[in-house]
Amino acid sequence: MSKSPIHPVSSLDRQSELENSPAQLISLDRVSFGYSHKRLVLQDLDLEIKQGEFLTLLGPSGCGKSTILNLIAGFYKPLLGRVTHGGEDIKGPSARRGVVFQSNALFDWMTVEQNVGFGFRFQAVSKHERKKRVETIIALVGLRGNERKYPYQLSGGMRQRVAVARSMVVQPEILLMDEPFAAVDVQTREGLQEELLKLHEQVSGAILFVTHSIEEAVFLSDRIVILDRNLGGIAHDIKIHLPEPRYTAMNRVSDAFNQYRTDLYLKMKAIE
Ligand SMILES: Nc1ncnc2c1ncn2[C@@H]1O[C@H](COP(=O)(O)OP(=O)(O)OP(=O)(O)O)[C@@H](O)[C@H]1O
Ligand SMILES: [Mg+2]
Repeated sequence: MSKSPIHPVSSLDRQSELENSPAQLISLDRVSFGYSHKRLVLQDLDLEIKQGEFLTLLGPSGCGKSTILNLIAGFYKPLLGRVTHGGEDIKGPSARRGVVFQSNALFDWMTVEQNVGFGFRFQAVSKHERKKRVETIIALVGLRGNERKYPYQLSGGMRQRVAVARSMVVQPEILLMDEPFAAVDVQTREGLQEELLKLHEQVSGAILFVTHSIEEAVFLSDRIVILDRNLGGIAHDIKIHLPEPRYTAMNRVSDAFNQYRTDLYLKMKAIE
């Protein structure tokens, strides 16, 4: 049997689409950042994220993945350099950038639809439009029929789906996800990954994802950036070419997938 091609045509189309798209969405331009004067976590970091791109940050604990997300979210400001969204400096949190963390902070006293609707808190959207968009996104994340349930009545995976729905309901231009599936079991996690890819196909925003799992990174991403704590920046920047649609089971076991996994594993080992 012949080996799976590492650059299948359909995926090349997606990659060349991204390649030819001039639209930089987020840009970190010579960014330095530290929590104390003693040590910089990020040093002279350059990173660009294109419209619609699925980019994953990998790297050892403490290398600055969450810090980068927080800078883009607008929770922190760089010591030096610029962090921009659509060419404008990021000055604070905005509904244009959604955030999903590992421990989803759902409100226990609100139902699923109320939690999802909370995503609109900063937006002037009519009641009718809100209701329509909440319904649509709940269906997209596979939670139809659970609208009136409270978080305690849901599994960990379902709660994480609510958190994703709440961030996506306002159609952010980028979704920032910090180890969002780390706390759920393997089967649920695979299901969530597949749903996220389908969502990403239907909702046009970019995703910046953080994980410790090489497999998860390869399965999901258009591009993977490996950070090195000692550099305070990027060690490797790798484009992933796998056949579309990306969410098929074959994309977890193909030769191409395994080659990426091995390559990334060795690169990670070399910098740890
Ligand atoms: N609020 C904070 N105050 C002081 N130091 C911090 C703070 N947050 C992070 N740091 C330090 O900054 C560095 C980078 O942290 P960051 O959380 O960005 O790493 P990470 O790559 O997300 O790690 P992990 O994979 O463990 O989540 C670490 O050395 C960490 O100890
Ligand atoms: Mg982190």
